Amino acid sequence: MRTKILGTGSNLPRKILTNADLEKIVDTDSEWIVTRSGIHERRIADEQDTASSLALPAVQTALTRAGLTPSDLDAIVVGTITPDMVFPSTACILQNKLGCRQIPAFDVSAGCTGFLYSLIISDALIKAGGYRNILAVGVELLTKITNWQDRGTCVLFGDGAGAAVIGLSEDPNSGVLGSFWSADGSFGNLLEMPAGGSKMPASAETVAKNLHTVKMLGNETFKAAVRAMEEASLEGIKAAGLKVEDIDWLIPHQANIRIIEFTAKRLNIPMERVIVTLDKYGNTSSSSVPIAMDEAFTSGKIQKGDNVLLVAFGAGFTWGSLVFKA
Ligand SMILES: CC(C)(COP(=O)(O)OP(=O)(O)OC[C@H]1O[C@@H](n2cnc3c(N)ncnc32)[C@H](O)[C@@H]1OP(=O)(O)O)[C@@H](O)C(=O)NCCC(=O)NCCS
Repeated sequence: MRTKILGTGSNLPRKILTNADLEKIVDTDSEWIVTRSGIHERRIADEQDTASSLALPAVQTALTRAGLTPSDLDAIVVGTITPDMVFPSTACILQNKLGCRQIPAFDVSAGCTGFLYSLIISDALIKAGGYRNILAVGVELLTKITNWQDRGTCVLFGDGAGAAVIGLSEDPNSGVLGSFWSADGSFGNLLEMPAGGSKMPASAETVAKNLHTVKMLGNETFKAAVRAMEEASLEGIKAAGLKVEDIDWLIPHQANIRIIEFTAKRLNIPMERVIVTLDKYGNTSSSSVPIAMDEAFTSGKIQKGDNVLLVAFGAGFTWGSLVFKA
């Protein structure tokens, strides 16, 4: 039995924040941001936007491209660390907004690997039997949990949503070939939002100390990301029964152009074969891979028969990959 990505969609807020705009907010300069991260601008959600409202248009596009309606869905899995609220899950809120049948719906917390985890779980559920079409979403509004006084993080993040419908493949020659996922919780404190959970519930003090925002040790995270992206790529390719030279397109998590270039170099994949969107969107966490994949499909870059490698790394630390034949 083989599964296949039947349709993709993405949605970006309209509001653009450029590096020049950031120069007015924190002590930074555009050249530093471009040289150290590759980011030129990012999209910022409106105050009333939520994970489910940003995801909905992306999901509707993915369903249309798959030739399906919400009633065809058998489960919804949403990768996000910026849900509408702690509970109910964004997946349940989306289910209600879509008007689906009563089907399983749940969120996955895996930082920037959230979409990859969601897609891998969806693939496994279909292969286990009983599920035909599953919606996997990556959506993030990181700018709502950003400390705008911390120049080490606020220049990196942006908001966005991406979605994919995965289902049974009728074509035995295309579809998901293999995947890999892993985690190492001993790195948890390098990238975290300390308050708002049971360890440190929200209080006047947690708000005053800015503890409801992203804290990151950038340099240590960078080193771990480079190692994890390479490992996840190689393991995913191995699970797919392919060799590195068989990969036509690399679609990596968009955290930093230097991490992407390093990963491509280690895999010997030329940058012309790597999908890069972070110059215009920044690091959109779990939505970066589905957005990049959607753009690769709609721009016509991915052609039938191409082998595509999706790979991501994120808070936890978590990392994962999935290889499919288009
Ligand atoms: C954040 C990141 C871009 C910083 O780049 P870096 O080369 O590691 O830079 P450093 O953190 O070592 O900082 C170097 C200097 O730049 C300064 N700096 C940091 N942010 C700056 C900014 N926005 N503008 C100007 N200078 C800045 C630092 O204060 C430091 O100055 P110092 O040497 O005087 O102390 C990089 O570490 C990174 O991308 N990390 C991984 C991010 C990531 O993958 N996160 C998500 C995982 S999903």
